[in-house]
Amino acid sequence: MPMQIQVVDHPLVQHKLALLREAEVSTNKFRLLTAELARLLAYEATRDLLLEDHVIQGWCGPVNVKKIKGKKLTVVPILRAGIGMLDGVLDLVPSAKISVVGLARNEETLQPEPYFEKLVGNLEDRLALIIDPMLATGGSLVATIDMLKRKGCTDIKAIVMVAAPEGVRLVNEKHPDVPIVAASLDSHLNEHGYIIPGLGDAGDKIFGTI
Ligand code: PRP
Ligand code: URA
Repeated sequence: MPMQIQVVDHPLVQHKLALLREAEVSTNKFRLLTAELARLLAYEATRDLLLEDHVIQGWCGPVNVKKIKGKKLTVVPILRAGIGMLDGVLDLVPSAKISVVGLARNEETLQPEPYFEKLVGNLEDRLALIIDPMLATGGSLVATIDMLKRKGCTDIKAIVMVAAPEGVRLVNEKHPDVPIVAASLDSHLNEHGYIIPGLGDAGDKIFGTI
């Protein structure tokens, strides 16, 4: 089956991703680019939000306008690296509630180990936008989607900067209803579970813990 992933080919997205891939990129620049890229990817990921008609009082009388309908948003950063994308997404949806999920990938087993979970209420009425720069084996994203679905969330989308085919296949298989929006679908994972060519360790680069 073909992989289900939306790769955003906008020139600004691809240019910023190219700058992020530089080996010598500074922490400051990596952080700024991550936020900028997150903003552009969130713009694409929210393109299909439903609108409804309203009549407002404009300067010259009543005006027919469109506003976002129904479901409220929750943004779900996966700790740590997802925090680097948070401000960029909130620039577009400043009133979104934030559900934080803490997962650390065990470097030996590559399995995600949960250490924090603070989700907002009424998840059944919300669209959840999961943010994490890296989709590698897919274990962390699948665990986060499992967590959200256990709490009743049925409308979930994932925004990542770089995805590996291995991770996309796993998410597609376990959660075919969850769209993935990315800046790039890269080649493969290396023997340590790192994306090639990828970005290296995104969390370390965002937090300066290299
Ligand atoms: C990284 C990344 C993802 C995960 C991807 O986080 O930010 O959350 O690995 O790998 P996977 O698809 O194989 O699960 P990591 O666990 O290294 O933690 P960090 O964000 O604290 O650096
Ligand atoms: N986590 C990262 O930060 N980078 C990878 O390439 C894989 C997992």
